[in-house]
Amino acid sequence: NVLSATNIVIFGATGDLAKRKLFPAFYNLFIDGRMPENFNIIALGRSDHNDEYFRNYIKVNLEAFSRKNVTPEHWEAFQSHITYFQHQLDEENSYKNLNRKLLEFDSGFGVRGNRLFYLSIGPNFISTISNHIKNASLASEPDKDRIIIEKPFGYNKQSAIELNQLLSETFEEKQIYRIDHYLGKETVQNILAFRFGNSIFEPLWNHRHIESVQITVAEEVGVETRGSFYEQTGALRDMVQNHLLQILCMVAMEAPASLESDEIRDRKVDVLKSIRRIPADKVDHYAVRGQYGKGIINGVETKAYREEDGVDPDSNTETFVAAKFYIDNERWQNVPFYVRTGKKMKEKQSYISIQFKPLPHSTFSDTNPLSANRLIINIQPLMDIRLQFMTKKQGLSMALRPVEMIFDYFACKEDTPEVYETLLQDALEGDLTLFMRSDQVEEAWDVVTTIQEDWANKKAIFPNYEAGSWGPKESFDLVERQGHNWL
Ligand code: BG6
Repeated sequence: NVLSATNIVIFGATGDLAKRKLFPAFYNLFIDGRMPENFNIIALGRSDHNDEYFRNYIKVNLEAFSRKNVTPEHWEAFQSHITYFQHQLDEENSYKNLNRKLLEFDSGFGVRGNRLFYLSIGPNFISTISNHIKNASLASEPDKDRIIIEKPFGYNKQSAIELNQLLSETFEEKQIYRIDHYLGKETVQNILAFRFGNSIFEPLWNHRHIESVQITVAEEVGVETRGSFYEQTGALRDMVQNHLLQILCMVAMEAPASLESDEIRDRKVDVLKSIRRIPADKVDHYAVRGQYGKGIINGVETKAYREEDGVDPDSNTETFVAAKFYIDNERWQNVPFYVRTGKKMKEKQSYISIQFKPLPHSTFSDTNPLSANRLIINIQPLMDIRLQFMTKKQGLSMALRPVEMIFDYFACKEDTPEVYETLLQDALEGDLTLFMRSDQVEEAWDVVTTIQEDWANKKAIFPNYEAGSWGPKESFDLVERQGHNWL
């Protein structure tokens, strides 16, 4: 393994993300021989625990959340890399002590190791930590030291600009890894392979042949224990500004000249810049918001959003968004990109649907209506690509029917790595491709700014969709007005 010796410092190591995602990802990478030969995971937390206690806690969680089994041999080898370190986020001394710890580990490596700081904490602490890291010179080597930051990255364009500015006082852009975990999904990464690794799709991938594009990320879960966080966030900030716009970029971007990370990120920024901004007085025409009321999901009664813990009984926060975007460039002139996402929907289902234009003239009789071709990229939980086309029905007459040709990931019997395995491995290797650059984040905020402002200023009539449905009626109107349908 060629990876340099690395000290991985996790802020918020006793939190949910660390136990469910980060430690399992490191453990699975370790078993696959993908961790550096020399590494330490330094888990920071406020409480006074010893290593033994913390390692046991991690073991129990690995047993619950790891993709691969926790065998005694693997665990024995892995656990020795974990150190618990008591730390207060806002105390200078804590960072001085951390520095000493890092130097101690470096002398064990025999070299100044790389440093990977993972901020698995609420967004309010980013500035405090970043400043302390600067003051204690913890990330003084731009070629070796990196910081990983979770979303939400700001809460609007202005705050994102300020956050980027603040981080730039401690880190160079190439040291900053802003996570959008959707980019680590196998099915999302495959869009690049599918589009640019084949010769037959790309010639059709434009306004001459494509009628509309749909991106749906529907969730069955509600806000669970995150009510008070979600109250300040809402679906537009939580899902559209990041995950949905990133998927849209993958579908719409021009071919990058190479797989170099800035090249790919440049092409995505081109798309974000070309998205037509929604005029402030036309938000209702382009975007729909919803909030779930009571309903039934899988036969079980479920409460309304306004009844969830931590939620205002008169809340104006949206749990559903549908929007229509246009991309003003040569390729996508007048092709609507419909996006929608919601919580407590009928089913968990994320997909991209590319609707091709109907034939200009049909050779077949009226009794043989033709369905226009459609390509469906299922992101999750189905993971497949389906091409829908017309065929002849077996029989004596010339009757047609639509059929599907399917590529199914699960048929390949290959292990699918967890998203965080992909992202953490990339961060260890210094590959920024799947992470958000500052301008990507800012442009994406810019795209949703007028919607944010309009919705903040107007009280919605909520709840307007039943839990367990496909969202408010207005979401259907949005696409049907143009003669289209949600899949
Ligand atoms: C997160 C959002 O970014 O993505 C959550 O904050 C959402 O609200 C989650 O549930 C969905 O991710 P996934 O990978 O389960 O589709």
